[in-house]
Amino acid sequence: MTLQRIYFHRAWDAVITICVTLSAIFIPLKLVFGFQDHSWAVNFSVVVTIVFAIDIAVHFFRARAARADNTAITTERLGVYRKRWLTLDVLAALPLHLIIDLPLLHLFRLLKLARVAQFMRHWRRRALQKGNLLRLIFFGYWLLLSTHWIACGWLALRGISSATDNFSNYFNALYWTTQTLSTVGYGDLTPANTAQRIYAMAVMIIGVGVYGYIIGNVATIIANIDPAKAHYLQNMERLTAFMNYRSIPPELQGRIRDYYTYLWEKRLSYDESTIISTLPPSLQTDVSLFLKRDIIEKVPLFRGASDEFIREIALQMRPVVFMPGDFVYKAGEQGNDMYFITRGMIEVIANGAVQATLKEGDFFGEISLVLSQPRTASIRAVSFCDLYRLDREMFNRVLSHYPDIAAQIESTAKARQERG
Ligand code: CMP
Repeated sequence: MTLQRIYFHRAWDAVITICVTLSAIFIPLKLVFGFQDHSWAVNFSVVVTIVFAIDIAVHFFRARAARADNTAITTERLGVYRKRWLTLDVLAALPLHLIIDLPLLHLFRLLKLARVAQFMRHWRRRALQKGNLLRLIFFGYWLLLSTHWIACGWLALRGISSATDNFSNYFNALYWTTQTLSTVGYGDLTPANTAQRIYAMAVMIIGVGVYGYIIGNVATIIANIDPAKAHYLQNMERLTAFMNYRSIPPELQGRIRDYYTYLWEKRLSYDESTIISTLPPSLQTDVSLFLKRDIIEKVPLFRGASDEFIREIALQMRPVVFMPGDFVYKAGEQGNDMYFITRGMIEVIANGAVQATLKEGDFFGEISLVLSQPRTASIRAVSFCDLYRLDREMFNRVLSHYPDIAAQIESTAKARQERG
């Protein structure tokens, strides 16, 4: 799906949500106060009819386009739309109250609220990190709408008092609803007949349910508003308990905390490789390419390399982090991998002296792989370093499949060896 189409769909969903919400507010008011014939009410009804009718057409286009792109997920399929939504959308779009003279038929418009609920589910799934915050906002939305409807219902049962204006009438009803729903019930507005008492009882029961829902869910929602942060804090708590239990020296504890804080700042504490490995192969390549395009663009060696090579290497490189002062490896060790620097700086140390400083875009560790010999130098991180590791197997594949790149790595290895 093109970006413009995605934006168009989002904007259109927002337009529908606004129209449905306004209908959900105005229609009950219209019915209670008898505004049906006011010109603004008629104009609003016309606009809503047009927007809802266009929405049906938009759905058909959306489903057809998704089918043409082969990207249709279940809810976008034409068959599913016809079966689940079409009747509801048509009933909501038709100005039924004009066909049959029954004001209550206006309420058919509110069937479209089912679509708003569907959008909300969809937005929540897409919002990921902010999903819980959205849940709280959507809960507030439904609570406000319900309060408004109950207030309108109360007004319909009580009748409009001619002693005050519409505004005061409405706010009296809203005041009664809020105190009854929130189970406060001051008792200054009391039901006057059996119908009103039954209504009040029903609202109190709903109120208890809402109260229970708030107590049960809102605390959890607030605690989980930022799952990445919760994950990080949980990790830190576990670590602190472990470090205290095993009496890890304070200096080492500080380094461990710095490491996790760095990970949290840079990667949200999620392990990139684990998350990528849960995806299907085609998505793995695309996501790896996206995440590693920065380093691939920065490494002069890869510039001008074929797409095939870039895709292959993106999949194989694994991220690793080193802290200031850490040794990536030491001279004389057996080498089974080479590294590319995405962020930070490292020192090449041989014969007790710093031979070179390498920074982002540079690579190291190739000499051992090319010449099959132990490490010629130690590598120490000067700052926090984000590196990508390439193991021997992939490295050998590069050598055999991509002779140009292999030749460059080999010539760098030889030049460095001569210098070192
Ligand atoms: P390797 O011998 O596997 O491990 C140490 C690495 O340091 C080595 O590969 C090279 O990548 C790198 N290296 C060695 N000497 C130099 C140098 N003079 N300049 C830059 N890098 C070097």
